[in-house]
Amino acid sequence: MDQFTLAAAERLTTRPPENYGQISVRSLTPVIGAEVSGIDLSQKLSEEQLAEIRHAFLTHHVLVFRDQQLSPEDHKRFARYFGELRRAQRSEDDDRDPEVLDIRADQNSTFVDGNDWHTDGTADAEPSLGSMLYLTEPPAIGSGGDTMFANMHLAYEMLSPAMRGFLDGLTAIHDGLVPWQGYQPPADYVVPKSEHPVVVRHPDTGRKLLFVNPGFTTHIVQLSAEESRALLDLLFGLVPTKPFLSCRVRWEPNTLVFWDNRCTQHHAIWDYYPHARYGQRVSINGTRPTA
Ligand code: SIN
Repeated sequence: MDQFTLAAAERLTTRPPENYGQISVRSLTPVIGAEVSGIDLSQKLSEEQLAEIRHAFLTHHVLVFRDQQLSPEDHKRFARYFGELRRAQRSEDDDRDPEVLDIRADQNSTFVDGNDWHTDGTADAEPSLGSMLYLTEPPAIGSGGDTMFANMHLAYEMLSPAMRGFLDGLTAIHDGLVPWQGYQPPADYVVPKSEHPVVVRHPDTGRKLLFVNPGFTTHIVQLSAEESRALLDLLFGLVPTKPFLSCRVRWEPNTLVFWDNRCTQHHAIWDYYPHARYGQRVSINGTRPTA
């Protein structure tokens, strides 16, 4: 690792110990992800419990809750503690709950949602604060279907000061057509497209992070096409080529994972075909990213 990476990693591994009284929190890695136990999400939560979950969320960015028995209403009630729920664009004759998205793959699937590094919905003017995926059916093969999550604060902090300074003034276009490459979006789909700063500050902590992702970002506004491609390739390559930036969550039945969409990327690994995997995702509205 180079000097910039070492310095960024050291800041994370030397942070003060955390104190929790209501829940137990065990880190998945020193830089991202934690398993939370001692809490039943099917019940209403106290202010003290919520304060500790919020603290763990802002510290670890991805929280894993095991052995939860949740109805869709329980799932949505837990998500509403953090904000209003996001409603999917659906046609008028679609009677599914617009606040709950099915995440399903089976032997008939030709593609799987999220099977590449991305941050959900960054083509929206106000991307989501976070998502909660409740998986009831991991692949019956007994393994596979893990999801990886990457810390985009650290991806930014490990860059050289010169590169960080250069990125700080740039903006990029995020286009909702990118995930549809090779496919035809529904005729009534209103394609979102937005310009966001390349480096934004987390709205709750003020900490900077790198806010471009291969799932939606097409180009950097202030650069030529050639320069933009070269720089985005470099930035997109940070997460896949530096494993220490990410954690890998292994799903068991009835696991809920709550991730902070404002400072992470994730990748749902499709390594279990032709087996099925099923869960439901609820997302929470966010705010416009700012530099
Ligand atoms: C997604 O939200 O991209 C899907 C995540 C997953 O299926 O693990």
